[in-house]
Amino acid sequence: DSTIKRSKSDSNNNNNNNNNNNNNNNSPSTLSDEFDFKPEETLSNRIFLIPFDDEKYKDVWNNEYVKLPCSKNNVYRKQVTENTSSLDDPNAQPQIKTKYLSRWYLISTALSTHIRDCESFIDAIKVYTHYKDFQCLLDFFELEMSESDTREFFLNTLPKVINLALQLPFLLPRPIPLLKKNVDKELIFSQRQIASLMCNAFLCTFPKQGEQYNSKYPSINFNTLYEGNLVPNRAAKLNCIIQYLITVTNQMPTGIISYHRQVIDEADYPDWEKSTRFLRDIAAFSQGTIEDDGAGMLQVDFANKMVGGGVLGHGCVQEEIRFMINPELIISRLFTAQLLDNECLIVSGAQRFSNYSGYGETFTWTGPHQDQTPTDKLGRRTTTIVAMDALKLHGPDTFIQFSPHHIDRELKKAYCGFYDSLSATLPPNVATGNWGCGVFGGDKHLKVLIQLIAASQSGRDIVYYSFGEEKFANELTNMVTFLQQKAVTIGQLYKSLWEYYRLMLHTKSSLSLYSYLDAHFS
Ligand code: AR6
Repeated sequence: DSTIKRSKSDSNNNNNNNNNNNNNNNSPSTLSDEFDFKPEETLSNRIFLIPFDDEKYKDVWNNEYVKLPCSKNNVYRKQVTENTSSLDDPNAQPQIKTKYLSRWYLISTALSTHIRDCESFIDAIKVYTHYKDFQCLLDFFELEMSESDTREFFLNTLPKVINLALQLPFLLPRPIPLLKKNVDKELIFSQRQIASLMCNAFLCTFPKQGEQYNSKYPSINFNTLYEGNLVPNRAAKLNCIIQYLITVTNQMPTGIISYHRQVIDEADYPDWEKSTRFLRDIAAFSQGTIEDDGAGMLQVDFANKMVGGGVLGHGCVQEEIRFMINPELIISRLFTAQLLDNECLIVSGAQRFSNYSGYGETFTWTGPHQDQTPTDKLGRRTTTIVAMDALKLHGPDTFIQFSPHHIDRELKKAYCGFYDSLSATLPPNVATGNWGCGVFGGDKHLKVLIQLIAASQSGRDIVYYSFGEEKFANELTNMVTFLQQKAVTIGQLYKSLWEYYRLMLHTKSSLSLYSYLDAHFS
């Protein structure tokens, strides 16, 4: 196991605040009464969640908004024995009654006990959740973290994490609209607000979000990261989260983050066959990655339709790694409903907190990352990440992806990802790579042409990171140069993909796509 152990210097924590005096004044009894909420903000599709000074918490609990743990509607049932004896009837029997009590009060109380180690931390979480398996978390602090870093975490960092989590109703007084299917909407938060939500996810305080039952929304509590065996890449994930918590509780970043569910109406899609636009440029590199080398570009997240995919579980490929090194992406899971074919999620301003090496099972945390990305006018780091989910190919018949139906689906998704509905707010070039061609089993020769068609139609060039595949990078460069020399239009390329599919279906030949295109346009 080559995992790098944390050293004291990593945590860089010289603020010795070791009292566990959390802000416990946030029990629902002190919150504002039920608020008659009129969502004026929904008139526009850009919604600011950043409050004015002293803005009052609005308690909203329905299927339009995120159900926050601090809502007074977040209750649990308890049988209590009431003494009913009185002067009139001194012998009356005590009565058992069912009462609904505030879960936020329970959470605040449980987290205000003296938590000095992982065991007492887990005991506290168990007070307000039904989660049982924390083996991985126990092993992480026992085997992975050095003794001094563990002590440091429970003495210094965790009390601040708890404090930040319990400030939720003050930091986020406005209800957070859910990014529902078919609704184009952008939510704007401060990094401090996201940090408070992240701390709550870390402490597993979120109630079920209703529709989570039929899995229309991804999960958000981190309990799934704490269960099972401690495998090396799980240790790396926990290290990324701990790094994030240490950083934000030591020095809160002051930026802004936006989460935009971008939806393109069916009628607004181009007629690909008729498009006379020319193909834009592709620069293909076998070395480099989207996150390291895609600064200033629209960076593609090879997503799952449930954004983040297996980030809080076993998944550990491109999307999960990105969500771990830029953990503010994880909060998108709280409000982003499963993506449809004509939808994607664009996150601007997420900060990178960790460095890593390896991939998949060998993913390893290698230390904190100093993110020097400049900010835009709104205060967002100019890191723009677009989550777009490719088709997941099932079964042995992978040729099906060349069918017009499948190509149209991928074009729909990629065009939605590259389209700039907020007019000139997205970076001009796309940083991408083998989208849909790893876990999802797609064909990279085809998928890159689909991405090129979508990017060209939206007026963008592509920078392609082939993830070590030099031969493919060269093949791609040659093919695109050839198509450009032949002045092939989007419509012509699109039609040639259909023809290739038809030819292959009828002849069952093994002609490769690029050999076909070469012959077709020569
Ligand atoms: N930069 C550039 N290319 C990369 C990088 C990187 N940082 N990381 C990987 N690649 P995959 P998919 C290349 O499998 O097939 C997740 O669970 C590398 O060649 O992550 O679209 C999601 O949540 C890799 O094989 O994307 C989805 O459920 C290829 O990109 C699912 O995986 C594809 O990466 C999506 O699977």
